[in-house]
Amino acid sequence: MTERTHVPVYLDPYTRSADHLDLLSAGPWQHMAPHVSTALAGIGENDATIVELGSGTGLGTCVIARTAPRARIVAVEPSSHLRAVLLHRVASDNDLRSRVTVENRPFPSSRLPEKFDALVMINSLGHLDPDERSELWRVVAAGLRPGGRAVINLQAPTTSSEVPEFEMARECVGDREYHGTARAECMDEHTVIWHMIYRTSEDGREIDATEVEYRWNVLDPGTLESELAQHNLHANAVGDEQFGVFAIESDVRRR
Ligand SMILES: C[S@@+](CC[C@H](N)C(=O)[O-])C[C@H]1O[C@@H](n2cnc3c(N)ncnc32)[C@H](O)[C@@H]1O
Repeated sequence: MTERTHVPVYLDPYTRSADHLDLLSAGPWQHMAPHVSTALAGIGENDATIVELGSGTGLGTCVIARTAPRARIVAVEPSSHLRAVLLHRVASDNDLRSRVTVENRPFPSSRLPEKFDALVMINSLGHLDPDERSELWRVVAAGLRPGGRAVINLQAPTTSSEVPEFEMARECVGDREYHGTARAECMDEHTVIWHMIYRTSEDGREIDATEVEYRWNVLDPGTLESELAQHNLHANAVGDEQFGVFAIESDVRRR
């Protein structure tokens, strides 16, 4: 277990969107799940350790657990609001409860196993700035066991550019409809600001709306490849290109 003593104060950008997040992410995860499972193929046939960074409410954690049914999983989630849902999901299922450990500290302060067979970071890499990303590649290069891999996705836009408003998802529960839209604006060459609006309506009338912003570090496949090369790692695209999933492996085992 790697321990870092200095833990900076964590400012959680998900406090006001947490109630919508699990509901609105479930549909998109049905499309993402096969690509993550393909990228993890062969991991966890034997007892394995899998680290998941930015587990959110645990939708991806369930996909990892299904794909690697004997693996022990360390699920890292720094948002206490999202972690409450994650911990509930894990604790209410006997199988997940027996093999998923929930870690609260954000990367790179997280207490992680020194060695692991896979590291998964889906829909979350943009939360790491370039220094934290460099630390991530160092941890991956040092921690991956032979045959292991990291699985990440690069979300559009992969270069700093505006994204006009679009609908993310819409779901009904009881008499109410929950609805999320997103748009992105450029902040600088490496960063966009995502503006989300989470709306609740009943009988076609909006009864609540919450606007939130996330700062997001963009990354394109070419820059990913050159960052990885500095750590003797390389990436291969997996599955449908629009999902931006990459499996990252060590070059050392190819020699
Ligand atoms: C867009 S959500 C994705 C959640 C989940 N992976 C999913 O796809 O449903 C991004 C997640 O990254 C987490 N996160 C943000 N900064 C992080 C950090 N430094 N280390 C680990 N997780 C982080 C957030 O709390 C949030 O759960």
